[in-house]
Amino acid sequence: MKNNMQKNIFWHEHLISREKREKYNKHRSIVIWFTGLSGAGKSSIANHLEKKLFIHGMHTYLLDGDNIRSGLCSDLSFSKTDRKENIRRIGEVAKIMLDAGIITLVSVISPYQNQRTMIYNMLGGVKNVLEVFVDTPISVCEKRDPKKLYQQARSGNIYDFTGIQEEYEIPSNPDIILNGTDALEINSKKIINILYKNHIISFCEN
Ligand code: ADX
Repeated sequence: MKNNMQKNIFWHEHLISREKREKYNKHRSIVIWFTGLSGAGKSSIANHLEKKLFIHGMHTYLLDGDNIRSGLCSDLSFSKTDRKENIRRIGEVAKIMLDAGIITLVSVISPYQNQRTMIYNMLGGVKNVLEVFVDTPISVCEKRDPKKLYQQARSGNIYDFTGIQEEYEIPSNPDIILNGTDALEINSKKIINILYKNHIISFCEN
């Protein structure tokens, strides 16, 4: 079926390349992929970081799991297969954003190692992706419980919640591990300095 669907499809090379867009933007594009438990602080760090990058004139976009699941992925559940499809679609969008010369921040639980590896490879690996593991103990996430979902999972209203009934696989080789209980400022700064060291952006923070 897949092969049939892809038959007679021809890739078009465009006149405006990623390199031209990056040159125009005065920074390189990259995908910053935040993984971690619900309530770990992924979206808060990503938001804080995006604001800093934006203020410095970087072209950015934040793809957030909860938001994407209310549109592009609103047809998907939290089964293992649907979580895979969720991040596959987000990965495909991020791939387009890479080509568009944008610094894309992705904030999704993405709990399974093999699915993260699939996305990492799809995006072209180390030169295009920075994998950030937001490491926050589940006891802290559960105490925070901003959406009261841990509470619902404990009481059996949600049956496939990550960290309670479903597993979260710790990333085997992330580019950076952030302590999700550290200040947003500290965590954003760490990523900014990595982006600078990797020649993605041309400013850093002391
Ligand atoms: S992922 O596992 O498929 O990567 P994603 O990041 O898109 O998850 O969505 C997670 C968000 O959906 C959580 O922050 C939480 O608000 C909500 N959510 C609702 N049900 C679940 C569930 N069963 N497991 C995890 N998150 C859930």
